[in-house]
Amino acid sequence: MAFGKVYLVGAGPGDPELLTVKASRIIARADVVAYDRLVPAEILALIPAGAARIDVGKQAGHHPVPQPEINQLLVRLAAAGRTVVRLKGGDPFIFGRGSEEAAELRRAGIECEVVPGITSAQGCAAAARMPLTHRGLATGVRFVTGHCKADEPLDLDWNSLADPHTTLAVYMGLGNISEIVGRLIAHGLSADTPTLAISQGTTARERRLSARLEELPDAARAANFEGPVLFIIGKVAALAAEWSAIEDAGIADPLADQFAVVA
Ligand SMILES: C[S@@+](CC[C@H](N)C(=O)[O-])C[C@H]1O[C@@H](n2cnc3c(N)ncnc32)[C@H](O)[C@@H]1O
Repeated sequence: MAFGKVYLVGAGPGDPELLTVKASRIIARADVVAYDRLVPAEILALIPAGAARIDVGKQAGHHPVPQPEINQLLVRLAAAGRTVVRLKGGDPFIFGRGSEEAAELRRAGIECEVVPGITSAQGCAAAARMPLTHRGLATGVRFVTGHCKADEPLDLDWNSLADPHTTLAVYMGLGNISEIVGRLIAHGLSADTPTLAISQGTTARERRLSARLEELPDAARAANFEGPVLFIIGKVAALAAEWSAIEDAGIADPLADQFAVVA
């Protein structure tokens, strides 16, 4: 029997409309879909009725299906001739361990294709109408993990991260936000640097808070976020706060008419 193929597919940050056309076409042709915890129900609803669904969802500090078993599962299913979709939140190659799965498939001689997804930093930034780079505010953006293996210290290059001209998008940082903020300030980043925390970004349950860097840990704790949280640290976060102020004041966007879509 000929081997099947595995598609490592990004489901985007949560809003089902941010799934790519290619991803939805491939999901519709799947024999089996193995999906993560962050993939929303509206996207799972696109899985064909006859296809098998396997929930390999992971939670912080708790892995219902350990990564080596997921790798082996993908190899086994494809070796049995199936068309397999491995569906992951955001982009499969940004903090998604998709590259480990791809390496395992390569070792086993299984064909694999990667379908990128909108990563949560992009989705959350767009939801907040905040650019990740902006002339005069940020010349670059860095995606960093705020999570480390149990009992290990965060192994980040704090000197280079404490750069006032770079936007930091911190994934998986909620549990370590006090340490992250403390280290950035200790390495020279201003305590007044604007920040934004977004929980469940791009979904109907999205929540956002703006804070100065030194206030962020307490503000995030008080917010009692549920679901995934992304932190944006850098001057661009002030632009999100400006939009929020307009929303809070209930002031209509003065340019809305000018850019209204003409049917
Ligand atoms: C294991 S990483 C997966 C990242 C994913 N591959 C991506 O490209 O977005 C999970 C982390 O992504 C971030 N995240 C994912 N979806 C999010 C969302 N809708 N809102 C806020 N943060 C999100 C959170 O920091 C969460 O802890």
